[in-house]
Amino acid sequence: MALALVTGGTAGIGHAFAVELAARGWDLVLVARDAARLTTVAEDLRSRYGVTAETITADLSVREDVLRVAQRLEDPESPVEMLINNAGFGIHASLLDKDFSIQEKALDVMCLAVLILSGAAGRSMSARGHGSIINIGSSSGIITTGNYSAVKAWVNTYTEGLANELRGTGVIVTAVLPGWVRTEFHERAGINASKLPGVVWLEADDLVREALDDNERGKVLSVPSMRWRTALWVGRHTPRPVIRWVSRKLSNSRKNP
Ligand SMILES: NC(=O)c1ccc[n+]([C@@H]2O[C@H](COP(=O)([O-])OP(=O)(O)OC[C@H]3O[C@@H](n4cnc5c(N)ncnc54)[C@H](OP(=O)(O)O)[C@@H]3O)[C@@H](O)[C@H]2O)c1
Repeated sequence: MALALVTGGTAGIGHAFAVELAARGWDLVLVARDAARLTTVAEDLRSRYGVTAETITADLSVREDVLRVAQRLEDPESPVEMLINNAGFGIHASLLDKDFSIQEKALDVMCLAVLILSGAAGRSMSARGHGSIINIGSSSGIITTGNYSAVKAWVNTYTEGLANELRGTGVIVTAVLPGWVRTEFHERAGINASKLPGVVWLEADDLVREALDDNERGKVLSVPSMRWRTALWVGRHTPRPVIRWVSRKLSNSRKNP
């Protein structure tokens, strides 16, 4: 059976990927920091779907941990056919804060780890002539809500560059640009998302099915749901001063009362 490695495979979107892939018969390698939760999720997938589920406890903001996961991706004895670079978190901090550790961590987990892991997967998959790399970007990447938007703009653009470099090798590369998704993300980051209307929210399971189908079809950019495809089309045709105005409103609405 084919093997997929999912970073952040224990919660939210990553967990939805793990469940959907297991249901489709994929064996899994799950990566996250919380070892106990990794064990619970892996056991659940094994018993529900009869697949194998390996776990790697790793903090992707730590370089040695990232290199350990990269090594797993390049192991010729047990080739990984699909990489889902999903681990990430929201940033609820000012760009002016003296303590920039959360901003640094965001760049480590959502940019550098993605770069290192995609490179490792791209090398081994292209040598074999097949494979898939799916990077979770965000529709936030087209607006300007602080460093999170900048980080996700990087993921979106980097993934398009990677798709170009791997074109013709048999490796299919897709960036997924979700809107808001109901997961632990907002609560973990201390972001108040309660004022957002119901229509902007996506369910992780739907997003994952669409993303996997888009990757199978060779699409480089996957924007789950018609309403978010429309929103992104409008966003891309809107003057940047208007985008900055909307982003300011959005950032203000997220502040806790
Ligand atoms: N939710 C949204 O509205 C939304 C929208 C667009 C894009 N996204 C993106 O989707 C991805 C997944 O987010 P989510 O909403 O599913 O979040 P989530 O529910 O909070 O899950 C995050 C997952 O990432 C893991 N993780 C976090 N930091 C990590 C680290 N330093 N090293 C290793 N694993 C780490 C977590 O496990 P541990 O805590 O055990 O490490 C968990 O499994 C992120 O890249 C996020 O930016 C989310």
